[in-house]
Amino acid sequence: MKEVLEKYKNEISKKTLRGKGKLKFNYFIHIIDLNKEEVLLFNSLFLESKKISKKKLNDIKHNKLNKIDNELIQDLIGRGILVNQCFKFFDLTKTLESIFSAWAFNNLYLIPSSACNLRCKYCYVKNYNSGFNNNILLMTKKEAKSAIDLFFELSANGLKERTSDVKKITFFGGEPLVNISLLYFALKYIRSKYGQAHTIIIVTNGTLLNKKLINYLRDVNVKLVVSLDGPKEINKSYRDSKYYDKIIASLKYLSNISYNFSISCTMNPANSSKIIKILKWFKKEISPNGIDLNLPLPPLTKELKISDCIDLMWEGFLWGEKESLPVNPIFTKLLCLNNKTFYYDECGQGGGQIAFFPNKKVSVCHAMETNQIFTKRINEYNVRKIIDNKCFDEWNRCNCLNREDCLRCIAFGLCGGGCKFNNLVKKNNICINDEDYCRYQREITKRLLIYSYEKK
Ligand SMILES: C[S@@+](CC[C@H](N)C(=O)[O-])C[C@H]1O[C@@H](n2cnc3c(N)ncnc32)[C@H](O)[C@@H]1O
Ligand code: SF4
Ligand code: SF4
Ligand code: SF4
Repeated sequence: MKEVLEKYKNEISKKTLRGKGKLKFNYFIHIIDLNKEEVLLFNSLFLESKKISKKKLNDIKHNKLNKIDNELIQDLIGRGILVNQCFKFFDLTKTLESIFSAWAFNNLYLIPSSACNLRCKYCYVKNYNSGFNNNILLMTKKEAKSAIDLFFELSANGLKERTSDVKKITFFGGEPLVNISLLYFALKYIRSKYGQAHTIIIVTNGTLLNKKLINYLRDVNVKLVVSLDGPKEINKSYRDSKYYDKIIASLKYLSNISYNFSISCTMNPANSSKIIKILKWFKKEISPNGIDLNLPLPPLTKELKISDCIDLMWEGFLWGEKESLPVNPIFTKLLCLNNKTFYYDECGQGGGQIAFFPNKKVSVCHAMETNQIFTKRINEYNVRKIIDNKCFDEWNRCNCLNREDCLRCIAFGLCGGGCKFNNLVKKNNICINDEDYCRYQREITKRLLIYSYEKK
């Protein structure tokens, strides 16, 4: 994807340098105030930025380019910030749109179990999926094998520019370790048939971890993500904490054997105001390799707004920078910004992700198991059946490049298109953005731009 955007940027600059017409700002330019004298020009598509003085900005705006040195103009053209006025951005977005909405499956979610041995208060699975109603749904080995093969087949047929050689396979739930025999089977199957290179992650509540299992997971190179919202008293506010001490013992073991693991900490009213203390506690007591701070999703958004998390998530990220401990998702956005890699993967934007549930159900989103529109039951695991599945088309229709509000947005290249599950629950439509979420994304993008510029 990086190469595709790089190619477009170079084509645009070449055309601009050859063209004779006037210059104008690219459609994707945003202006960020740095101080009294200077601004940062930011191209939200190519993730290029350039500091210039307000005086020069004024000259460019009023077409007094003769007042600006040639070197600066060439630089701005090279970054795709200034373009020839004949340049039609719709031609560009049309071509990019075909790339964004093409199939290129890189992320597989496997849900070994829709059920869980816990009942966390805030859990969207508990609140929106029917799997917890004594109705223990477990994926069979046959289903897992077919799902894994189908994913690799789909991926092999995807658009080359967007297909990555290293796939990400995430075991999710419910609680994936509830179906432990399936997990052993699937891990062995993936590693023996598809090799060692792919990233395999298990997101777990940690209650069923033990030394034997951990040692096995280390041998097959699995990354663990264990959910915990803080010390016992805080964790129990929203997470079902009946096995808390056991989870901590397993986390300490992971740390002692230098296992590659991270903590998944969900922002909630009990931990958000103490977030730095909690991050310090994680580091001191558990020493993970990274910490994921999850924004609240419904039903938690009734108690804590996403936009109320802006400062807290930012402080958490800055603390991580100081401690050399990645605090996500902002850490990953910074990497994308520095690498000039469009971040389209907050979610399964445009055919990048597929989730398989027990009982042959398929969706783009791991949180929509019981949604009748976006999750379909398929009779056979067949590439055609997936591609023809209307819910995937609908998902693609809503990608950023099809939405005027996204094209105009400063967060366009770093947002990942928003959480459609959040949109669905709040707006009853996956394509209508949640303004609260967007406010968060825009503010974080601005802060990251300034941070990244100041660090240079
Ligand atoms: C749904 S659980 C599934 C995996 C496993 N059972 C676990 O708890 O890690 C995955 C993650 O979603 C988070 N989560 C659950 N409900 C949430 C909500 N309403 N908002 C934000 N995150 C939530 C949990 O804290 C957990 O880290
Ligand atoms: S452990 Fe995970 S799936 Fe189970 S109730 Fe808690 S958040 Fe939900
Ligand atoms: S912040 Fe909102 S408007 Fe902006 S790109 Fe993301 S989803 Fe679109
Ligand atoms: S819609 Fe939201 S919950 Fe679903 S896969 Fe995308 S980011 Fe995750």
